[in-house]
Amino acid sequence: MTTRVLSVASEAYPLVKTGGLADVVGALPAALAPHDVKLTTLIPGYPAVMAALDESRVLHRYKDLLGVEARLLGGVAGGLELVVLDAPTLFTRDGGPYADPDGEDWLDNWLRFAALGRAAADIAQGAATDLHPDLLHAHDWQAAMAAAYLRFGKATASPSVMTIHNIAFPGYFPAEIFPLLDLPPEAFTIEGVEYFGGVGFLKAGLRAADAIPTVSPTYAEQIREPEFGMGLEGLITARRDRLHGILNGIDTVIWNPASDKNLATTYDAATLRMRGYNKRAVEKVFSLTEGDGPLFCVISRLTAQKGMDILAGLVDALVAMGGRLALLGSGDAELEVAFRAAAVRHPGQVGVRIGYDEALSHLMQGGADAIVIPSRFEPCGLTQLYGLRYGCVPVAARTGGLADTIVDANEAALAGRAATGFLFDGVTADDLTGALRRAITVFGHREAWRSLQKQGMKADFSWRRSGQRYAELYQRLLKAPASVQS
Ligand code: ADP
Ligand code: GLC
Repeated sequence: MTTRVLSVASEAYPLVKTGGLADVVGALPAALAPHDVKLTTLIPGYPAVMAALDESRVLHRYKDLLGVEARLLGGVAGGLELVVLDAPTLFTRDGGPYADPDGEDWLDNWLRFAALGRAAADIAQGAATDLHPDLLHAHDWQAAMAAAYLRFGKATASPSVMTIHNIAFPGYFPAEIFPLLDLPPEAFTIEGVEYFGGVGFLKAGLRAADAIPTVSPTYAEQIREPEFGMGLEGLITARRDRLHGILNGIDTVIWNPASDKNLATTYDAATLRMRGYNKRAVEKVFSLTEGDGPLFCVISRLTAQKGMDILAGLVDALVAMGGRLALLGSGDAELEVAFRAAAVRHPGQVGVRIGYDEALSHLMQGGADAIVIPSRFEPCGLTQLYGLRYGCVPVAARTGGLADTIVDANEAALAGRAATGFLFDGVTADDLTGALRRAITVFGHREAWRSLQKQGMKADFSWRRSGQRYAELYQRLLKAPASVQS
């Protein structure tokens, strides 16, 4: 019998994307379909979503969803089977999904995402016509209240799964919002939504969910420690029997160098030399001159998580070692300024595009020699997986999903042709410089570099295995007796 799952999130590719969360949420339905699981995705009715939804039907009308009028619309957009929370007062706005056009978080984010969670729990309890999910699957803090509303709801709760994509975003709000959440008073305890005297959305979801997957095995270990758990390590450790490290997959149709329409030239492992045309195209976009050394790229949020402050301080050294850099990203204002200044200092060697450009990100993976990912922590990371599939060799910090997916080019791995990239320990200028230097040296040995590229391209990072693991997890929860909190 088909298992029906309601997946709840604040973004989904190709409709709304600020990072890897969207890629994963957008890919999960196709990843689970071969396992007889039908995933319907609940997302907010942002303008881009409403515009993409052509034919929709009303599944439910709210006069008062935490004080706002709203509808649940069923339909298809961007190839995804959706339920859209159409609540114009919350979601019909210019700007991004979380912030206004100046980049400031919306002040009512607590209400916007509490409403999303409440709607999800209502659907799981049978509120929407034609839609009776067996299980609810929430992603990150924006969807986490779904599990809490289910737990404190009146009807018998269906099981809930709460995937942590990034524990660094806790969704923490002052205690004053609690009375407005329409939860019973007993929910404002350590067993419920209370967190350090306020309300923690992610904490609430982690406390209530029946299973807690996170997006790589190493990160599942790391978040039990204070350094990575960001204050939630105690709860994670207490609930470790509910914790699962399930590595993200990638969409191998969208990310396929043999058919990617964003490339100047398509190629595969047998025609790697064709990448040269893509490299020329990247050089043109970034106004770079040709060179003998490797062309490094960065495609990233420009934040401390991603170690971009360390890289910003090393651009001169990278150029002095014979490397060139093409950077696409946006984020912290000081980092944007620092990278722009580096491009001015090194015309022809360093090119910087501040902004978000999906098509250009594909071209860069298809043309640059290597991608630099010096993250301080990285729950999974997708850009190294795209890099591996495109023969764009990752140079990355040994943390989280980066450690789980890249085989470091140490001497043995190089000799055994097992290596796929460069990993370094610790995120300091010295550590990163050492890794960049190693990459530049190996780049000088044509055969060794080709072997790195080919080995990475051979690896299977599709959703095949992880889709199966999620399907097995759902089955286990549905067979388990009524959930017992631990
Ligand atoms: P995170 O979700 O922490 O930002 P991931 O590596 O999981 O990191 O996912 C980032 C996703 O966003 C990838 O699909 C990457 O290609 C994309 N991305 C990041 N920055 C940009 C940008 N400036 N332009 C286009 N795509 C970007
Ligand atoms: C988060 C993490 C990233 C992960 C992505 C998708 O944004 O920072 O490491 O790949 O979610 O799970």
